[in-house]
Amino acid sequence: MLPEVFSGKKILLGVTGGIAAYKACLLVRELKKSGAEVHVIMTSSAAEFVAPLTFSALSGNPVIINIFPENQKSGSSLGTWHIDLALEADLMIIAPATVNTIAKITYGIADNALTVLFSAMRSPVLICPAADMDMYNSPASTENLDTLERRGYYILPAEAGELASGLKGVGRLPETEKILEAAASVLMGYKKDLTGTKLTITAGPSYEDIDPVRFIGNRSTGLMGYSIAKAAWLRGAEVELISGPSVYTPYPELKFTKVRSALEMQKALIESSGRTEITIMAAAVADFRPAVVSDKKIKKESSAGSIALTENPDLIASIQKQGKTIVGFALETDNEEANALKKLSKKGLDMIVLNSLNDAGSGFEVPTNAVTVFTSDGGKKEIGRTSKFEVANRLLDQIMDYRKSYGKS
Ligand code: CTP
Repeated sequence: MLPEVFSGKKILLGVTGGIAAYKACLLVRELKKSGAEVHVIMTSSAAEFVAPLTFSALSGNPVIINIFPENQKSGSSLGTWHIDLALEADLMIIAPATVNTIAKITYGIADNALTVLFSAMRSPVLICPAADMDMYNSPASTENLDTLERRGYYILPAEAGELASGLKGVGRLPETEKILEAAASVLMGYKKDLTGTKLTITAGPSYEDIDPVRFIGNRSTGLMGYSIAKAAWLRGAEVELISGPSVYTPYPELKFTKVRSALEMQKALIESSGRTEITIMAAAVADFRPAVVSDKKIKKESSAGSIALTENPDLIASIQKQGKTIVGFALETDNEEANALKKLSKKGLDMIVLNSLNDAGSGFEVPTNAVTVFTSDGGKKEIGRTSKFEVANRLLDQIMDYRKSYGKS
């Protein structure tokens, strides 16, 4: 589910002339679905790749290509349309942004509708470059992107992978979902405020094998942990994500370790948390595992109908906490606050995030969450029901505030 932050927002989408221009069609569709008003501005070379009609049909608004719209040329409407659109917009996204457009906007050139609007923008701008690897990595483009970032524009870097030229390297436009998450982050007012911060995040369930076919698992999907990892990375953090089985895909830039059981997660966690200053334990770890894992499928006839279990170690207890900030999660069905507070002190945590299974929009298998965050110094703050991505960002705010109050950056 998309963050609710798009609803009612006016978004300008600038599309420039690259192969990835077709991906911008999906962006328009998703933004519209999430309740945003979308105006597409194309460069004339973008119109060589995708017909403007596609964008006008998807956005429900005329596509702007020329600096002087038709009715302005005829003198019927002489206005400052570009100033009006730029003033009213909540956000401008340029995706894909070619090296040519990046160069123009770095130097203040305003020779087409897109660059004119960019120069008149007061609200934030998200720039998503895409190019062939040599063009993307050229000294001019690298310096231009650095300059734009220094000026406060948000740059979502291109990804590595197979490029239209057949070459492999950095230059691909990120997936639509990632652009939308970056846009949500920018709309929420975030820049790269976590640059230099290193986090370990665990996510998903643990699967404890019984035999080659069966396992003991739980209903965690991993969405909360993946959302925290994405939100932190978008804000500039270095993120190590350790995940039990999950359908979600992490951003390619994260250091990702896929695990299955609690014991595998423990090993990865001990290594990772040694390298980072913040550990967030969003994983739903099984308390017990089968005492013996059968290497052959257990047959009905030979089974006693019960499985002997042995206790898993507490993963939080196995990490070194000195000088670090450790955040746990608690999912309770009864005596929620008392149980969460007990875990906070027993596990030696700095913070615990309580989600209640009694709340329909919170917990497993739902895209939203509502949580209460308790801190070791007696603090209690609620984050009302919203998308897990927004909960993730507000939780990161609280973690950084808590660290600041203890003199950590
Ligand atoms: N956790 C852990 N190791 C375990 C079990 C849980 O590190 N073996 C972590 C979870 O990742 C979570 C926190 O501890 O951050 C609380 O998990 P929860 O399952 O609610 O706590 P338990 O200690 O297992 O208590 P219980 O299941 O009895 O409620």
